[in-house]
This record gives sequence, C-alpha cells and structure tokens, in this order.
Amino acid sequence: MSQPIIHMDSVSKSFKVPIKGQTGLKSLFYRKNTTVDVLKNINFTINEGEFIGYIGPNGAGKSTSIKLLTGILYPTEGNVRVLDFDPHKQRYEYTYNIGVVFGQRSLLEFDIPVIDSFLLYKAIYELDNEKFQKRLDRFADILQLKELFHIPVRKLSLGQRMRCEIAASLLHNPSVVFLDEPTIGLDALAKQEIRSFLKQINENENVTIILTTHDMGDIEELCERVIFINEGEIIYDGQLETLKNKYATHKDIEIVYSEHVDIPSEYQHLVKSSNSHKYVFNVTYSEAVSVVPELLKLGNAHDVAIHELRLEDIIKIIYKNQSA
Ligand SMILES: Nc1ncnc2c1ncn2[C@@H]1O[C@H](COP(=O)(O)OP(=O)(O)O)[C@@H](O)[C@H]1O
Ligand SMILES: [Mg+2]
Repeated sequence: MSQPIIHMDSVSKSFKVPIKGQTGLKSLFYRKNTTVDVLKNINFTINEGEFIGYIGPNGAGKSTSIKLLTGILYPTEGNVRVLDFDPHKQRYEYTYNIGVVFGQRSLLEFDIPVIDSFLLYKAIYELDNEKFQKRLDRFADILQLKELFHIPVRKLSLGQRMRCEIAASLLHNPSVVFLDEPTIGLDALAKQEIRSFLKQINENENVTIILTTHDMGDIEELCERVIFINEGEIIYDGQLETLKNKYATHKDIEIVYSEHVDIPSEYQHLVKSSNSHKYVFNVTYSEAVSVVPELLKLGNAHDVAIHELRLEDIIKIIYKNQSA
C-alpha cells in the first residue's frame, strides 16, 4: 500500500489587497486594505506515487495551492504537510526533497549555458558527482538535451527551456514534484516529449507528481485522479474515469449518407443537427450499441464519425453548473 504523503487540512489562504479606486495624496499614507479569500477550506490527501491533475479555471487558486505546498507561501488557516515537513517552516530541508517547475517563471540562470545551470543545481543540492552524471545523462537522452548544453538559457525556445527546467527539477532525485503549467505555450511535439518523460518518471521511479495545467490532453494522458478547484474551493476530487462517466452520458454519431434519407419517427428525437445528407445523432452510451447499426441501415452511409464528450467539454459543463 502506498503511503499518504501530502496533506492539506482545512487550508485557507487570504491576501490583503488595497481597496481599488483610492486616489489622492492621503491614500498613499492611509491605504485601506481588504482581504480576498483565495483558498477556502481545502482538504485533500495524496498518496506516494500518484499523478494528480490539479485543474480549474484561471484565478481558481491553483498556483496559490502550489505555492503553499512548496513552502513559498504559508496558509492563513489550516495545515499543510508534505513528506512529514511543514513546507514553509522547514523550507530549507524540505527543498531537498521536492522538485518545482513554474511554467511562467524560469528556475534556470538566463545568461549562462544550460550545462552550467545544471552544474549550479548540482552544487546547490550537494549532489554526488557520479550519481549526478548518470542521472543527467539519462535525462539528456530521453529529453534530447545534449545539443542544448552549451546554449545560454535565454536563447532556448520555450519548449527547449521547459525540457531543461523539468530535467533540472528532478536532478536531485526528489520524491515529489510540483509542476505549475509546464506545457503552457508549447507546440504539440514539445508537449508530447514532456508528457512521456513525466510518465516514465512517475512509473519507473514512483515520483509523486502534482500537475496543474490548462491542457486537458495532459490530464487525459497522464492522470488517473483529478482535483478540480473553482473559486478557491474543491468541487471534485476523484478518479478521472468517474468524472467522465458521470457527465459523458451521450455521444454524437455523425453519419454522412450518399443520398436523401427519411429518418423514421422513432429516431427523430436523436437528431441533433442535419445538413443536406449529413446527420448528427446524439445517443446515450447504453443505446449506442443497438441504435447505431440501425441508423447506418437507413441509407447508404459513406462516412461515420463518433464524437465522445471531451474532458474539456465536461469541465465546461461543471463550471457552468457551479456558476449558475
Ligand atoms: N499575492 C497575491 N495577492 C493578492 N491576490 C493574489 C495573490 N496571488 C494570487 N492572488 C489572487 O488569487 C486568485 C487565485 O490566483 P492563482 O492561485 O494564481 O490562480 P490560478 O493559478 O488558478 O490561475 C486570483 O484571483 C489572484 O488574483
Ligand atoms: Mg496559475
């Protein structure tokens, strides 16, 4: 049995912010503040070896959660514990045990070549020569970093830089890695390389990974469990499959017939849209097996496509229900 290693217990985080619209000299000296509650009573536990998709719309509180979990911020209320550390209070020792990547902010030194950045990491983490070299070689192979070693970080493309950042975050062999939007702005190929690397690290080394992303492709490919946060509250925590099954009750069957067809009255209610000989039928998962063959027999069907509800659509539905 894998152990629970990450705990958020009744965690809230508020920020003091100046009240908007204050003007004049007086406001410089007597700034009025108000508090915004960015996280409200967050509770979850994550087990060793899990690959968590931490998702939610912009401004939901994902990055703030990651900052609490990595010790950059401390909670206003409640307790954060990771690997038996208090991330904020024991930041120094804690940092040796975790890896962090913020997609929007670089951890690497901009003006020095990539390899020197890695060596700097080695020095900071006091890594053993041989182990470091072995690990770096392996990562360099998988992520094709060798040809980047002598290029200054500022000259790398976003995708190249992100491959380096992710490698760097794992060099000291952490047991937990936090990745905040690591695939943001990357092209499909770069995304794919990063996904397959993360998958290997999670499966082969049992590294626990917490990933925030806007890219539902990342989630579908990598995460069994998702935690969905909206306006600072968790609105779903569980298996991705369960979430899908709950919402993805229907699928669209698109059939293009080669001539005009008459849709029998018993199937009329399934028609979602039609355009000359092209029909889109919306059927439930359970009726699909029996109904689709019948629909195909209505005429000479020369093209069929099945559109399942994508995770992206499901998220939109949940989001809409929440704000309704
Ligand atoms: N230091 C801060 N001071 C005030 N408000 C903040 C601060 N950091 C984040 N926020 C606010 O908290 C909310 C959540 O931000 P964030 O955690 O970055 O969301 P996400 O990463 O999900 O997009 C946003 O409304 C943001 O403006
Ligand atoms: Mg964010």
